[in-house]
Amino acid sequence: MALNRGSSPTSSIFKKQKHSPSSPPTAASYLSALSQADARARNAQRGTPTSTPALSLSSSLTTSTEDTVLTEEDGGNSDGLAIPVGKPPNSEQLYTTVHTEFGHCYNEEYRHISQHPQGAPVPRHVEQDPPYYILFSTYISYLILIVLGHLRDFLGKRFRAQSYKHLTPHDGYAPLNSDFDSFYTRRLKKRMDECFLQPVTGVAGRTISLLDRYTPDCNQTQIILDTRTRALNVSSYNYLGFAQARGGCADAVEESMKRYGVTSCGSRLEGGSTDLHTLAESVVAKFVGMEAAVISSMGFATNSTFIPALVSKGCLIISDELNHSSIRFGARSSGAHVRMFKHNDMEALESLLREAISQGQPKTHRPWKKILLIVEGMYSMEGTMVDLPSVLMLKEKYKFYLFVDEAHSIGAIGPHGRGVCDYFGVDPRKVDVLMGTFTKSFGASGGYLSGNKALIDRLRIRGYSGAYTEAIAPPVLTQIIASMASIMSIDDDGSVPGAIKLGLHPSSSSSTLHQVVDYPHPGPISQRALPHWLSLPLPLASGAEGLMRLRRLSFNSYYLHRGLDKLGFITYGHPSSPIVPLLLFNPAKMIMFHRMMKDRKTPIVIVVVAYPATPLVTSRVRFCDVDQLNHYHHPTKSQHFFPPCRSPESRIERVKARKAEEAAARQKAAQEARERACWAQQQEEEEAVGRGGNRYLTGGNSLESEGNLPK
Ligand SMILES: Cc1ncc(COP(=O)(O)O)c(C=O)c1O
Repeated sequence: MALNRGSSPTSSIFKKQKHSPSSPPTAASYLSALSQADARARNAQRGTPTSTPALSLSSSLTTSTEDTVLTEEDGGNSDGLAIPVGKPPNSEQLYTTVHTEFGHCYNEEYRHISQHPQGAPVPRHVEQDPPYYILFSTYISYLILIVLGHLRDFLGKRFRAQSYKHLTPHDGYAPLNSDFDSFYTRRLKKRMDECFLQPVTGVAGRTISLLDRYTPDCNQTQIILDTRTRALNVSSYNYLGFAQARGGCADAVEESMKRYGVTSCGSRLEGGSTDLHTLAESVVAKFVGMEAAVISSMGFATNSTFIPALVSKGCLIISDELNHSSIRFGARSSGAHVRMFKHNDMEALESLLREAISQGQPKTHRPWKKILLIVEGMYSMEGTMVDLPSVLMLKEKYKFYLFVDEAHSIGAIGPHGRGVCDYFGVDPRKVDVLMGTFTKSFGASGGYLSGNKALIDRLRIRGYSGAYTEAIAPPVLTQIIASMASIMSIDDDGSVPGAIKLGLHPSSSSSTLHQVVDYPHPGPISQRALPHWLSLPLPLASGAEGLMRLRRLSFNSYYLHRGLDKLGFITYGHPSSPIVPLLLFNPAKMIMFHRMMKDRKTPIVIVVVAYPATPLVTSRVRFCDVDQLNHYHHPTKSQHFFPPCRSPESRIERVKARKAEEAAARQKAAQEARERACWAQQQEEEEAVGRGGNRYLTGGNSLESEGNLPK
């Protein structure tokens, strides 16, 4: 398996691949053909055909910051990334954002409300198994790579000892790093480094600039070129597209820097707490529907430093087997006993709870001091959603504390964007601790923990973040406040002039929602609860844009899930999930898929995820920023990207029909050949007879036979 493609600076690694016409029609080649059709359609539509790669803004760009900023005019629009193609907006739909940062989509049909139908059972996620030959080839590939890797290590340690010094005992020192992870990194991952750690520049919005690079030595080093490729971005966590360099939130951030500077220069407990921190915490608490919240400058640290403040020795943590490493880290360092249950399996959870409660602590069998169940709202590698109603039923029955990590669900799902509780229409206060991060939906960074006031006040003092780490920076706080307020809408008895009353608050019309939630929804935020200097443009302040972003994300998530399923790919996850994992399995496919996406007429940058983030054989590609896929939502183009009704069954039928047609054509050709041979023979016989004078034997038939000539 040739995974390395050493290339020279002149032959860029991003050069278009030549696909052999005789290659078998795989899903990949099918997609590639679709992309070409897509590009042709776009060119035909505009009447400006181009033969150069559409997105390549590669040039003599300098390293100044200017080259990271793409304006609507830059680089033309042959790829459709700089300005929207298709139906232009009408005069009321003025662009308030740059299309490359947040894609415009004014078609109201491409909206969907992310909501669980009331009373409907929560569907269980069923993992699709790949065909055996896929598994077989995957295992064989890894086997070959592992055997070759060990062989090279074995020989290398003997014949090139100096280069392998760090892997062998030397000068009385033990090898520092010689475990399987080291082997995996050197012998497997390095071969595929092209699809990992892609350096980028500029705003990670709807599009992103890739820094072109090449490797002269089989991925030992990567050399960054001075050219860039702008690509459609489905790799960043920017679910609602709030990570923008321009627009209402960015203006607010700029204003905050003038007032507060870049950092507050201290930890929360030691001089780093500004009024903006307190304000942001109250906005977060209001957003998630809890009494209080504490924020920390890093999402990972929110889990890893606050979980030890919640539980300790003598406590039990029950953790989903696929919980994020920040949760595992926090759980381990808390000193509590940790038990894991099968991912999202409520029966397994209940039987574990029964066993744990009946047996108590190991050896002493004393009752646990407390039991804390930790689950995620949305699982980042699987795209699966927690079965919250069932978990809450178990909580009622077995009286454990519940901690839900909403890193990927807050701001991304639910009719009001308030996460899993909102999605299921459950009162968030039924959950003891709601944790989340600002990195995924709010275009910021950091994390929060929310719960009742007594708990949060205690966590402020006990969590390591409070005393030992820098407080979250004021510009980041402003981004959090501004984006959350845009989703909530600002309301202060009409203080937002012309604000649209959205059907979100129970008191207002909720005709768009087909579910009555069983809790008093927090609704809009008061202008008085925000910094007095914060002034958002009307579309943001009214909540109209936030709502539109939420519904677009929901539509795109469903659309992408369905489209990929129809194309016959194996995907995981809940259809509402903004993360859409597509299973690749085979290690060679990771790099191929990555290249194919980048080699499209409109390059697409994706994230390929492999071991140790996933099991060794289930490597996958994760489509994240699906909010930005509106690029493909023009009526003609959507059909190019995901042709309608292309289920695997219909594809098989189409292949069968095509084969039948080919067989019929072959039969016809054979028949014609036979007739030609027959006719030639007749001619010869006629000539022979003519030469012999026996013309009467053929007579007038010669004309008839002429009429029977095969055409
Ligand atoms: C479930 C979960 N919790 C916590 C985090 C850490 O968040 P951050 O990246 O903001 O540090 C992540 C990161 O992806 C996550 O997926």
